[in-house]
Amino acid sequence: MTAKVKIKIEDVTKVFANNAGEHQQALASVDLAVYDNEFICLLGASGCGKTTLLNLMAGFESVSSGTIFIDDKPVLKPHPQYQTIFQNYGLFPWRTVEENVEYGLEVKGVSLEERRAKAAGYIEMVGLEKFRNSHPHQLSGGMQQRVAIARALAVEPEVLFMDEPFGALDALTRFRMQDEITRIWQENKQTIVFVTHDIDEAVFLADRIVIMSPYPGRIKTILPVPMGRPRDRTDYDFIKIRDRIFNEFELTVKKELDYYI
Ligand SMILES: Nc1ncnc2c1ncn2[C@@H]1O[C@H](COP(=O)(O)OP(=O)(O)O)[C@@H](O)[C@H]1O
Ligand SMILES: [Mg+2]
Repeated sequence: MTAKVKIKIEDVTKVFANNAGEHQQALASVDLAVYDNEFICLLGASGCGKTTLLNLMAGFESVSSGTIFIDDKPVLKPHPQYQTIFQNYGLFPWRTVEENVEYGLEVKGVSLEERRAKAAGYIEMVGLEKFRNSHPHQLSGGMQQRVAIARALAVEPEVLFMDEPFGALDALTRFRMQDEITRIWQENKQTIVFVTHDIDEAVFLADRIVIMSPYPGRIKTILPVPMGRPRDRTDYDFIKIRDRIFNEFELTVKKELDYYI
């Protein structure tokens, strides 16, 4: 069985002009196929073009050359079936949790009764039933990000783009959110493109890790993570894959011991 390609990126470059009129190449000849239902992580240091590549896929930016297709159609602008979740949550502060989650359905013209019912299901999925009438400022960062996830899921998107969504959370909350997004993905089977600079997070979440390098941003290696879920961070296979990535980034320290054997 061959998996269906959901997103196809063909020879994409992106050049930005800064205020001084100088050109900066953010991406150079990027080729990538993301499969239907795949959980893919874009991993790399700050400035290697992860956000740029995600924004191009999501239709927020346009390519300088090359093409990006989703379902064989070129991406020209954002599409409601492809939802994006950002690090700063992007919630409407004047709306309650429930009203935030309903937002996408409202835009689609879904009736109040139907969107209330649908929103309730997704609020329950992220465990916020008790907070449905709260406003974002009354919630912790982790809870706000769960609202953002519920809001994105409520429109039943085929693709979820996530740009360092857990980057602002404390380590323990981040672990919980990683468990939660894994479970949600296993239940709903969307295609997820998830940007992170956290090696551990990428190994925990991804089917494949796209390792990027900077100046100009490009894909260095694509690493499959052939492990079942839920994953155990202390597992031998987990550590082996993490070590490989440390090597890719040349982060490994030559141990003194090596010189004696
Ligand atoms: N709007 C922009 N205008 C000019 N340069 C930009 C813009 N967005 C990103 N860049 C540049 O493109 C490169 C890649 O940025 P970005 O995609 O944000 O990287 P990452 O998300 O991996 O940190 C960086 O050198 C950045 O300065
Ligand atoms: Mg970024």
